[in-house]
Amino acid sequence: MKFQIAIDGPSGAGKSTVAKALAARLGIVYVDTGALYRTVGYYVRSRGVDPHNAQEVEALLPQIRLELRYENGVQQVYLNGEAMGDRIRTPEMSMYASAVSAIPAVRNFLLDTQRSIAKANSVVMDGRDIGTVILPNADVKIYLTASDECRAMRRYEELKAKGIDTDYESVLADMLERDRNDSNRAVAPAVAAPDAIVFDNSGMQPDECIAGLMTVISKLIRV
Ligand code: DC
Repeated sequence: MKFQIAIDGPSGAGKSTVAKALAARLGIVYVDTGALYRTVGYYVRSRGVDPHNAQEVEALLPQIRLELRYENGVQQVYLNGEAMGDRIRTPEMSMYASAVSAIPAVRNFLLDTQRSIAKANSVVMDGRDIGTVILPNADVKIYLTASDECRAMRRYEELKAKGIDTDYESVLADMLERDRNDSNRAVAPAVAAPDAIVFDNSGMQPDECIAGLMTVISKLIRV
């Protein structure tokens, strides 16, 4: 029996850390959908196109071939045959991803990639619209969130650990701007599905959050 676990929520809520750990414990595939939007953003940037210009972005889509591959259990996105790696993880790519993700043609373009992987495998999929749009019949829907300060501090620590030069204040400001863009857009806004379980992990260590979610999941599906 295949099953689907959808994890949505704002940036810095710890979705990827938690989703990755849950997938490993359950022995199923982890899908990071944000990486797909980041890769489209990366391509748009490489072509010098304004990510807010829907028409020009849409015109680039036929040039993009995306593939998700799993290498030693880690998701890797390939853009026209080339592995993206950490190039899509910069603050600039976060902004490009958020801008292109508001364009309906981009969302449509990425729909099949996301649905087909969930059709072929049991998945833990994280994103913004997994429980609302991509997998509306998911067996478990979780909306993971935390306070603004907590999320910004985590993002700041993560960027610092990667050697990306930034400061807490600008990480917080960028994050709030991205949250605004993502939750106010017309298509697939980042909101909790009505049947999602809202889980606030402010002040929790990852292990505590993962254990709490395992309890939630094991009540809903036989794992
Ligand atoms: O999860 P992330 O930070 O890597 O996502 C980058 C951007 O992509 C985010 O600001 C909004 C967009 N996104 C989306 O619109 N829908 C998704 N399912 C995943 C990400």
